[in-house]
Amino acid sequence: MKQNPILVALDVPQPEDAMRLVEQLAPVVGGFKVGKELFVAAGPDIVRRIRAAGAMVFLDLKFHDIPNTVAKAVAAAVRLDVQMLTVHASGGRAMLAAAEQAAQETAGKMGGSAPLVLGVTVLTSMDQAALHEVGIEANPGQQVERLAQLAVQAGLRGLVCSPLEVAGLRQLLPGQVQLVTPGIRGPGDAVHDQRRTLSPQEALLAGATWLVIGRPICGAPNPRAAAEKMLAG
Ligand code: C5P
Repeated sequence: MKQNPILVALDVPQPEDAMRLVEQLAPVVGGFKVGKELFVAAGPDIVRRIRAAGAMVFLDLKFHDIPNTVAKAVAAAVRLDVQMLTVHASGGRAMLAAAEQAAQETAGKMGGSAPLVLGVTVLTSMDQAALHEVGIEANPGQQVERLAQLAVQAGLRGLVCSPLEVAGLRQLLPGQVQLVTPGIRGPGDAVHDQRRTLSPQEALLAGATWLVIGRPICGAPNPRAAAEKMLAG
């Protein structure tokens, strides 16, 4: 059976609210994204609880530090049994390689398979002027491509990208690289603060492997029906 590509963003502060969503949605989605808000509020136990419910966990803490520190954080995430995690590609080649190596080695010692270490390129909140202010002369598109290639050369097997970057990165990168895309909205869904969105079908057709979806599912009167509808059209 084909893997369900939906990763539900659990952007709630309370573990009980998160677990209510997990219980409703686990049978109809591919996994759950735990970000900084929930992780800082609820601690690593929330990951254990989601895993105990039988669902995959994408730990989106966007590590960015010296290679040794990132490697240790990745190893700790592997011991928590997450299936995907994020690091900032701008942390550089040595940091990216250390993250991937820690994922492989720790998983190997535990007799499991390594989680997908995903590189985050340029935050979509950064425009040309914001990049310029931090000393980057390239435009956002060029910088995304540069960091995506660096991440893959350093050994990463996946990237997070915006819906509008998927098609371009698919052309540029080896076919096996997994692309994880937020900014997904079904027809009729509110866009909220997302500026550019694609529908689930458009994003998959463009080459996305995984779709991160938050408010259109978690904020719906019936989250399970909303999740099922996402892939129906
Ligand atoms: O509610 P919504 O579907 O917009 O949630 C999307 C999720 O993906 C949120 O957790 C958001 O932080 C994350 N994200 C994003 N855009 C990016 C990177 C991450 O929406 N460029």
